[in-house]
Amino acid sequence: MAVTPDAQRFARRAGGDVGEGIAAILSLLGLPGLISFAGGFPDPSTFPRERAAALLGEFAASGETSAFQYAPTRGLVGPLDAVAARLEATQGRRPADNELLIASGAIEGLELVSKTFLDAGDVAVVEGPTYLGAIMAFRGYDAELVAVPMDEHGLQVDKLERRLADGVRPKLLYTIPDHQNPAGVSMSSERREQLVELARRHGFLIVEDVAYRELAFDGAALPSLWSLAPDAVVQLGTTSKTFFPGVRLGWAVGPAEISAQLVNAKQNTDQCAGALGQRLFEEYVRRGWIEEQLAQSRALYRRKSERMLAALERYMPHGTTWTRPQGGFFSWLTLPDGVDSADLARRAVESGVGIVPGGLFFADGSGADKARLSFSMVDEERIDEGIALLASLVSAQREVWRTER
Ligand SMILES: Cc1ncc(COP(=O)(O)O)c(C=O)c1O
Repeated sequence: MAVTPDAQRFARRAGGDVGEGIAAILSLLGLPGLISFAGGFPDPSTFPRERAAALLGEFAASGETSAFQYAPTRGLVGPLDAVAARLEATQGRRPADNELLIASGAIEGLELVSKTFLDAGDVAVVEGPTYLGAIMAFRGYDAELVAVPMDEHGLQVDKLERRLADGVRPKLLYTIPDHQNPAGVSMSSERREQLVELARRHGFLIVEDVAYRELAFDGAALPSLWSLAPDAVVQLGTTSKTFFPGVRLGWAVGPAEISAQLVNAKQNTDQCAGALGQRLFEEYVRRGWIEEQLAQSRALYRRKSERMLAALERYMPHGTTWTRPQGGFFSWLTLPDGVDSADLARRAVESGVGIVPGGLFFADGSGADKARLSFSMVDEERIDEGIALLASLVSAQREVWRTER
């Protein structure tokens, strides 16, 4: 029997084109010279190289072992305390010890939640559009995905209410209320209140992903869903965008009974998040360095966003629209009639510009007239050139469509 498995021997969950989609985006990022608006990666200039190196030196010199050892599944005591203190400072509520877990990134948080809640055929409501990693996580457990549309104030909660009235019975609802990936919009205060009320009334869990919450350009934030309804929300956080993703670190905070189940689920995924990253982040918080870094990151991303929006204004043909983010990494483009985003993305990469076609962010394959533009990692000096190139491709495709009609 052949040692290398053929496709038929893979489990069903190993298939699917969404995974290939993510792989395609990542491979685009690697092309030399590409002006990439594709990946949602942080700008490498935000990486705390010197401080990370100094802390590593301290850990080694002091003879500390915890940074180098296995950690408890829930996390090391010190880092848990640092995360809890930050949650209290930034969201006004300190979790109890049995409500908080340190995860190996928010993606792992999604995996743990899926493993804990989703049987085949269970309904998970997502935003339309939503984060591709969440679509993949829920699909990995054969959940049925139901998308509820968004507008400039985030998830359209009235439309959700209608779906619930029509008989949709979700186990969970996944939302990114702040500076959403990919739409670049935030949920209004009013809708946050309405959403938690619906969750309590209909008995579904809200999974709140706060990946970009601390990256508002002006540092402001609306109440988190978890702070509004700690009984009905599991919040997934990450240090990837505010510290650095190389440590693969995040948190899950929610009701104690659920948290205990997430700890169980983690015991047979990776057992514990890396202790070294936990200790680095703890010290970063304790020394106040995270606040310094956040101030710099916010200023950098604001500048890059403004530059990209100004270039869109200058170069994009009539009929193209985009969202105006107040934080985070993304603007969401709506293309004029006759321009297909997958086709555009293909032509763009041939011309040296990376974008992500909208279809990847919808569970049902819609989004052909949408594209995600990320300003986080693109070289600031090449934003104008990249958008001008993209705009010329949009205009050209639209002209072809017009003449063919
Ligand atoms: C909404 C959202 N959640 C989670 C993640 C991933 O977080 P982590 O690096 O902690 O796994 C991302 C990164 O792109 C994201 O955009």
